Order: sequence, then structure tokens, then C-alpha cells
Amino acid sequence: MVDAVVNVAAVLEAAGLTNRHVQEFVEHWAGVTGASSVQVVSAADDERLVAEALEAGELVPAGEGRYYARSYVKDTARAEERTIVATGDERDRGTYNNWRPGAETKEKLVELMTGASAGRTMYVIPYLMAPAGSPLDRYAAGVELTDNRGVVLQMIRMSRVGADNVNDLGDDFVRGVHVTGDLANLGQGTPDDKRHFVTLADERTILHFGSSYGGNALLGKIAHGLRQGSYDGWKNGFLVEQFMLLGITDRQTGRKYNIAGGFPSASGKTNLAMTLAPEALGDRYYVEFYGDDIAWIWVDEDGVLRGFNPENGVFGVAKDTNERTNPTAIDSIVPGSGAIFTNVAYNERTQDVWWEGRGDKPTDLDGWLDWKGERIADRAPEHADDPWAHPNSRFTTQLANVPNVAKDWDDPRGVEIHGIIFGGRTRDREPLIRAITDVAEGVYDGLTLGAEATAAADGLEGVLRYDPMSMRPFLSYPEADYAQHWLDVIGQARNQPIFAHVNWFQRDAEGRFIWPGYRENLRPLVWLMRLRSGEVTGVPSPVGILPARDELDLAGLDERTLADLDTLLTIDVERWRQEIGYREEHLAQFDGLPEPIWAAHRRVAAALDAERE
Ligand code: GDP
Ligand code: PGA
Ligand code: MN
Ligand code: MN
Repeated sequence: MVDAVVNVAAVLEAAGLTNRHVQEFVEHWAGVTGASSVQVVSAADDERLVAEALEAGELVPAGEGRYYARSYVKDTARAEERTIVATGDERDRGTYNNWRPGAETKEKLVELMTGASAGRTMYVIPYLMAPAGSPLDRYAAGVELTDNRGVVLQMIRMSRVGADNVNDLGDDFVRGVHVTGDLANLGQGTPDDKRHFVTLADERTILHFGSSYGGNALLGKIAHGLRQGSYDGWKNGFLVEQFMLLGITDRQTGRKYNIAGGFPSASGKTNLAMTLAPEALGDRYYVEFYGDDIAWIWVDEDGVLRGFNPENGVFGVAKDTNERTNPTAIDSIVPGSGAIFTNVAYNERTQDVWWEGRGDKPTDLDGWLDWKGERIADRAPEHADDPWAHPNSRFTTQLANVPNVAKDWDDPRGVEIHGIIFGGRTRDREPLIRAITDVAEGVYDGLTLGAEATAAADGLEGVLRYDPMSMRPFLSYPEADYAQHWLDVIGQARNQPIFAHVNWFQRDAEGRFIWPGYRENLRPLVWLMRLRSGEVTGVPSPVGILPARDELDLAGLDERTLADLDTLLTIDVERWRQEIGYREEHLAQFDGLPEPIWAAHRRVAAALDAERE
């Protein structure tokens, strides 16, 4: 136990954490969790903490200046069914995120956390989820308490960490408590599952118990950066979305377009933001990286829609990342980058890491361990073909390591947003790209984003579901309010963005992706830029404007892709009419959905009917 309350305050004071409200918060939870000591951390502590983690065996070296960690086998992805948003207002009950009343939920978490960090250090992580000095700063500061050193190392990479972020804020910070729990005895996936990942949104308090996986344990990133953020944005006039954010510059015209986009977890955001122009297009275009997972978006005092990435790092999916698909990612995790790999395969002899899609599978099995830590050379024949890496294995690296990071990525004013796109894994129906110029139709399109869930959500891979704007796992208020909030915020902007729906994941009958994807995804985005600036007109369809074949830059695409282009660029009207029925059923679940959304739905439905006749 932490002995006297006064000692905690003294420890924090000595570490330069002078905010009395933060001190009281730490004292309280140190008492509840029973941590044996308290330690304030800042980014400057990284080297020491890495050394300690290596010493303790929590990390192992993956070559010089890179690290590898393995998580508990039942703790490798976000657990959506264990995720709760709680408030004191019954009207906040939504369809997603298992709304519960705040008071009783908090009580439950206090019970679970009581004494659960006994004998461990409680790390105090003061952080900011924004470039410092932004107009949204007051919503961006937080303090995460965690009993897990690995979580500290990840947080230092993913957010801006240091006491200065919270000292002058009084009571205006998000309170986060993370307790790892006894991972081998939490009943994961059983009726007696002890894991609880709770955001008490109206108290700006986050209590997570029972995981050390990034998506459950990095409270700044997921729980604050998205769940708490979306609630605060709803109450205070801004949008918080699971969006990547990139800028495309056309050197020939000098124009730059910034595009934000929502794709469900593990559906291509990080890769898109890191995209480089396809070689075949020469050096006409270049893409700058702003963010790969979260955007906070607002309308500034001049009426301009702007956004920034609140994060400081990338938590990327390893699978299929290689020099061809994503050379930028490979360059941002090189030796010396400080990158941390989680749940990939590891060679204890050579300190190499490997994952499916990294390149040729090593033929010399000596020293290789799979993501569970089992020796690959000793595998039983029936397990010979098991993946070496977990499908949701990840790398964590700082934005400063990303070669195409924009020079103004840290600008607190954010950047103007010209386009908003939605996409996901959809094996049929959705064409490569369809542009939408009407705001209500764009918002409607986001609300009806239907895609396959991925390995980033435990137990849901491949399930087809609606995922509004890709925020389903993070939405902290009801869908009807969400729709209205979108219409309100975008409606205020005088630089109305163009919307588009994209799909990199159409498959043929054999299950093969018919679009090459990755860097080639720039081609439809360039078309969107040109559509917005009036250089092309596209072809109208009931579900938006499609590119005419000759409006897409096709230079260097292979024969097979060219042969599939008609499939990629047309819609199946019958399939879409069926979809309209599903959407109607889906949207009808939400009471009070704004009339402009229903009107948009009816317009699309009528246009499809007219097409058929
Ligand atoms: P995020 O979680 O939304 O950021 O998605 P990532 O960019 O990390 O990608 C998730 C997975 O999808 C990775 O295994 C990628 O290799 C794969 N992926 C990303 N973009 C594409 C694409 O354009 N085509 C295909 N086939 N796979 C992609
Ligand atoms: P992702 O980020 O969207 O890049 O996969 C992590 C997550 O959403 O769980
Ligand atoms: Mn995400
Ligand atoms: Mn990502």
C-alpha cells in the first residue's frame, strides 16, 4: 500500500507534477488499487524505462534500438463486448457500446480494481492528445494511471507525455485508470468475463480493467482520443472520428487537397496515410501523412473546416506490410527507430521479426518463435500451417519516424479539410470510388458504411455489419444525435467538403482482390481531387458520381486489373436495391434520426428504382 496520502503528493511534486487536482486523483486511485509506489513519467524517461523493461524481460531487443513484446494469448485485440460507455443520463443509451448507468458501473470497477495493483508501481502518465496550443487543447489533456510499464512505453510513442501538459489545467483533464489484472485468470470470453473497459463520459473518467493490449490499455489513444473525445465533441461543437488524414499535392497545378477518411479498424487507414505515389505516375503527386487513426475536426472562426491528428505515433497492423505494399511503414520501423513490435514472430537467435506478408517465410527455422512464444521448429504436423504472427500483430512507432509525415503535422491550427471518404472491407457491391457532393447524402453514406469486421476486434473477423463512419466501437452517444451533430458541424463550414465512398477490397469468385490497392489507391483519390476542382465530370449513378474509365490515370496498371476495371467502376443495381432494404431496417433502430438523413435515403432508393425501370 502507498503509506500516507501526503507522500504521493510529495512524489508528484518532486517530479514537477504540481496540479493539485491531479495529485488528489492519483492519491485516490493509488489507495484503491493498492500500488506499492507511484512514479510520474515523461517522454524523457523512455530510455530508462526501456532498459528496465529489457532487464525484466517484458521487452526483448529486435535488433539495435527496436523492441519486441508478446501479449497474453487471450489479450490480442479490442474486446468490444466488454466495452462500456456509462453516463448518468438514461437518454445517452445507444445501440453500440453497451450503455450502462454511471454510478453502478463505477462501483463495479472500484470493486475489480481494489487491491489489484498490489506490489506494483503505479505510473502516472500526463499526456496531451493534440498538437500543443490547439483550440481544442482543453479537451485533449489527460492523466493515465497504469500498473504496466509496457503501456507507458507505448503511450510515450503514441501521445505527447509530460507534466507540463496538465499542470495549468486545474480540474480540466481526463482521468484514466488502467489496471492490467491477472490476465491468466480473468475468464476471457466466458460468461464470467472480468474484463471491463469503461468510459464514464459525463465524468470524463476512464476505467479499464483486464488487458494490456494497446487498443484496451492505451487510454489516451482509444478511450480518450475517440470515446471521450466524441462525447466532448458532441457537447462542445466539434467532431472526433476514427479517421486517417492525408494531404495530396499536385505539383503540376500546385494544388493541395487534404482528405480525411473513416475505415473500420484494420481496413487500410494507416496504409493509405503512408501511401506514396505509384511509380507509374512519376513525381507529379506527393502524399503527406497527417494521421492514420484519429482526427479531431472543427470549424474555425473563419468558417473553415479543419482537422488535426491528436496522436504522436502510429500503432500499425503488421500483416502484409512489406517494401512493396508499404515502403513508408518499413522505413519508419527501421533499427534505431525505437519501434515496438507486438505479437509478431521473433527469432531469439538473430533478433529478427517476421509476420505473414513480410516477405518470404524464413526457411531456416532455427530460433524462430511464433506469436505465442512457441518454437516453430517443434510444431506438431497439424499446426504446421498456423500463422507465425497474430493477424492483429502490430508495430508502434513515432510520427517523427514516418518519412512522408507532413512538415506541418504538428501545427495546432490543423489543416483545412477538402474531402471526407468512407470505406471498408466490402467484397462486392461497393465500386472503387463513388463521389457524393450533397452533405446530407455524404453523412447518410457514412452512417450506412457496411463492412466486414477484422481481427482488430476479438472474435468478429469477417462479420458483415454497419459501422457508422467507422465509429461503431467508439461512439459514446446515440446515433440520431451523432447524425444531427455531423449535419450541424459540416453545415457551418463555408468550405463544404466533397464526400466519397471507396472500396479497395472487391473480390472475384475465387476470393482474390481485384484491385491492387495500397499505393495504387492514390489513383481514385486523384480523380476525386480533379472532380472537386472541375477537371473531370464523372458519370452520375444513383449512389454517387463514378469515374469514367478514361478519367482515371491507368498508366502502369497490369492487364488483369484493366480487365476488371468495368467491374470496379460499375454498380449492380439489383444488389443495391437489396441493400436499401437492409439499410432501412438498420436505420429504423435509431429513434429521432434527422429528417435530412431519411430524405437522402429516399432519394437514393428512388434513383435506384428509376434506374431499374
Ligand atoms: P487500419 O487498421 O485501418 O489502419 O488498416 P491498415 O492500413 O493497418 O491495414 C490493415 C490490413 O489491411 C493490413 O494487413 C494491410 O496490409 C491491409 N491493407 C491495407 N490497405 C490495403 C489495400 O489497399 N488492399 C489490400 N488488399 N489490403 C490492404
Ligand atoms: P486501427 O487502430 O484502426 O489502425 O486498427 C487500432 C484500433 O482501432 O483498434
Ligand atoms: Mn483505429
Ligand atoms: Mn491503423
